[in-house]
Amino acid sequence: MTGKVYLVGAGPGDPGLMTLKGKTLLECADVVVYDALVSPAVLGMINPKAEAINAGKRRSAHSMSQATITTLLAEKAQTAAVIVRLKGGDPFIFGRGGEEMMALVAAGIEVEVVPGITSGVAAPAYAGIPLTHRDYSSSVTFVTGHESAGKYRPQVNWRAVAQGSETIVIYMGIHNLGRIVPELIAAGLPDTTPVALIRWGTRAEQEELIGSLATILEQVEATEFKAPAIAVIGKVVEVRSHLIPGLAAPLACD
Ligand SMILES: C[S@@+](CC[C@H](N)C(=O)[O-])C[C@H]1O[C@@H](n2cnc3c(N)ncnc32)[C@H](O)[C@@H]1O
Repeated sequence: MTGKVYLVGAGPGDPGLMTLKGKTLLECADVVVYDALVSPAVLGMINPKAEAINAGKRRSAHSMSQATITTLLAEKAQTAAVIVRLKGGDPFIFGRGGEEMMALVAAGIEVEVVPGITSGVAAPAYAGIPLTHRDYSSSVTFVTGHESAGKYRPQVNWRAVAQGSETIVIYMGIHNLGRIVPELIAAGLPDTTPVALIRWGTRAEQEELIGSLATILEQVEATEFKAPAIAVIGKVVEVRSHLIPGLAAPLACD
């Protein structure tokens, strides 16, 4: 065994949010196996001499199974020195990085994880939503809204989520929002609770949809709002209107 696999978080899209360690690894990689949500700007950092393999997995377009990806990484580790497994956001936050690392470690392959900035933190920040602004929120819950929760991972207890913290951040929730919103209202959240959906957060094409639990489903339908997006539910969404003047300014040194 000659190679080492680095499980690297690519961040949410803005290439400026890539870690220095991750960028250095991309620049010296022999092989990079990347996911669908990694932004083109980050892919542009890959060593031109590296073998870049798209393992892209987006809803209804699974190009490689999890087992195939793990086998591929293990194979590459036989012949290459630096293998980067590049995942959107942070590899351990709803990214199946834990599963991949377990399989590689079990196969005797050396693995190191390089965290990335997760979209559930970065997208709200770029949209002007401070998740734990102290006037509004003492806690935040990160939760999956994917339909398969309950099948491959524990079922989400939406009642506990609604009652457990002031700010709720939902990954992969857009397709299932029609089921999630009624659950949160049934659990006691007022239908006036503010909601923000942030699509392609931190990228040039970022777009937001702001409403409340009462309005958001109609808004999604009316605007044909699509994934990938983060949903933020809670009073902190209101802070956004005060922060908008300070957003999207060019870097001071540009
Ligand atoms: C399989 S999860 C991967 C999450 C990733 N590991 C992370 O830490 O951000 C994919 C979901 O992350 C969210 N997501 C990823 N990148 C995003 C972005 N730039 N803007 C908004 N949501 C994003 C969406 O909810 C998407 O459906």
